[in-house]
Amino acid sequence: MEQTELVKPDTLEDLIQTLHKLFESDSVNVEEVQSIMESYDSKPHEWMKYATFDQYRYTRNLVDEGNGKFNLMILCWGEGHGSSIHDHTDSHCFLKLLQGQLKETLFDWPDHKLQAGMLQKSQQVLLENQCAYINDSLGLHRVENVSHTETAVSLHLYSPPFQTCRTFDQRTGHHNSVKMTFWSKFGERTPYESTVSQENN
Ligand SMILES: [Fe+2]
Repeated sequence: MEQTELVKPDTLEDLIQTLHKLFESDSVNVEEVQSIMESYDSKPHEWMKYATFDQYRYTRNLVDEGNGKFNLMILCWGEGHGSSIHDHTDSHCFLKLLQGQLKETLFDWPDHKLQAGMLQKSQQVLLENQCAYINDSLGLHRVENVSHTETAVSLHLYSPPFQTCRTFDQRTGHHNSVKMTFWSKFGERTPYESTVSQENN
């Protein structure tokens, strides 16, 4: 297999170009993608145009469609905003902190035979520029900005792209399928009708 020469991306644009190269092939090298995303030093002026906040919940803002191989998006978390517990629809999920901190809590898949609540198996606080990775075989997670004074901004890559995922009730383990929407696409606010929703990742 051809070896890609990995150079630290200077800008978000460089990072996106490198990601396009890495996803040309059909197999994803998780360590490679994670390390290239981590090596980008977040510079707010490069991603500011995608960073739009909502008062009530975190927003998903599409940055790049990765030639159909991945979706790259920026999530903006107000103080105290958090996701539900969710899966990743058999995709790879990379999560890099651009600003602030996020707490990631990992859960095992619920055991339907037990009909019991879901136990958390680990927790980590992601700091600026760190990049985490998850897929369904590693479990489920919840992501939260636990700060009451600071917002957080994160860059997410999902491959292959997906539009629905499942959210889980921690107490019962029951799940719902939810459709995910974008608050903005390529820096432009999405029309209201398409953003009326629900939960997502
Ligand atoms: Fe997630």
